[in-house]
Amino acid sequence: MEDELRKTRVAVLGAGKMGGIILQALLKNNLLSPKLTCATVQHEERAKLLAAKLNVKVGTDNAAAVKGADIVLIAVKPQVVQEVIREIRGELTPGQLIISVAASVPTSMIESGLPEKIPVIRAMPNTPCSIGSGMTAVCKGKYADAKHVAMTCRMFDVVGRTVVVDEKHMDAVTGLSASGPAYIYIILESLAEAGVKVGLPRDVATLLAAQTTLGAARVVLETGDHPALLKDAVTTPAGCTIDGIMELEEGKLRVTLIKAVVRAAQRAKELAFS
Ligand SMILES: NC(=O)c1ccc[n+]([C@@H]2O[C@H](COP(=O)([O-])OP(=O)(O)OC[C@H]3O[C@@H](n4cnc5c(N)ncnc54)[C@H](OP(=O)(O)O)[C@@H]3O)[C@@H](O)[C@H]2O)c1
Repeated sequence: MEDELRKTRVAVLGAGKMGGIILQALLKNNLLSPKLTCATVQHEERAKLLAAKLNVKVGTDNAAAVKGADIVLIAVKPQVVQEVIREIRGELTPGQLIISVAASVPTSMIESGLPEKIPVIRAMPNTPCSIGSGMTAVCKGKYADAKHVAMTCRMFDVVGRTVVVDEKHMDAVTGLSASGPAYIYIILESLAEAGVKVGLPRDVATLLAAQTTLGAARVVLETGDHPALLKDAVTTPAGCTIDGIMELEEGKLRVTLIKAVVRAAQRAKELAFS
């Protein structure tokens, strides 16, 4: 699969934050050949800067970029997707694979703007992809098959973990793992603030909060144990942790987090393009 990717012509349309993260990671890990890779952005000036930085061809002409590409990664803002599809549709053939990371843009909307039978995959990454610790959910459209899914997962595995879901779950994914880093930053900031309240220097408090968050997450991932069991292991009868947990329960932390994900998922649905 890696060899296959290196021989693959990839065009990234919209190499901004997310498109740029994925493109850079694939090039850095030698999974793409710079000679076979190109990208587009909106502004000429940014195209020049990016081309110099990444050592790949970067322009502003989407139709030219997709000509002969095997994989076209669409990473423009959701409201620009339709316009980009109109620009490229004349150059596409069924042998090509379209991958879109645009939030709230269903595969059916992309498929309806393309010539028939072009495979489309939708992916929802998150910002920790920038340090290789991202979470990406992938789903397939009407004409994509298992090989297209595997190829997409291989690409996103470079920037973190990947999971394959049904498209009906993509709004839920948006509410949980795509918005999730913001929730965790708020929790982390609050824990650090609490450390300051109980007398720790701010830098020490932030380190304790961040490393504790990372450690707890890694234990869940590496043991596969239920978080409730792991919580029980920290909670000595009549000890300190149970007093802290009582405050969390009284402050309704659980239900607040559940409601946050539900609201964000609902918003993703409301914003859906059709
Ligand atoms: N950021 C996230 O956490 C995240 C997570 C999951 C999914 N996504 C999805 O990723 C997509 C991009 O988001 P982003 O945060 O990376 O936005 P961004 O940084 O603004 O990147 C958008 C890029 O698109 C380029 N662009 C605009 N119009 C274009 C056009 N007509 N043709 C070609 N390129 C064009 C812009 O060019 P210039 O640089 O010249 O302005 C910019 O490089 C969105 O659809 C979003 O839903 C983002």
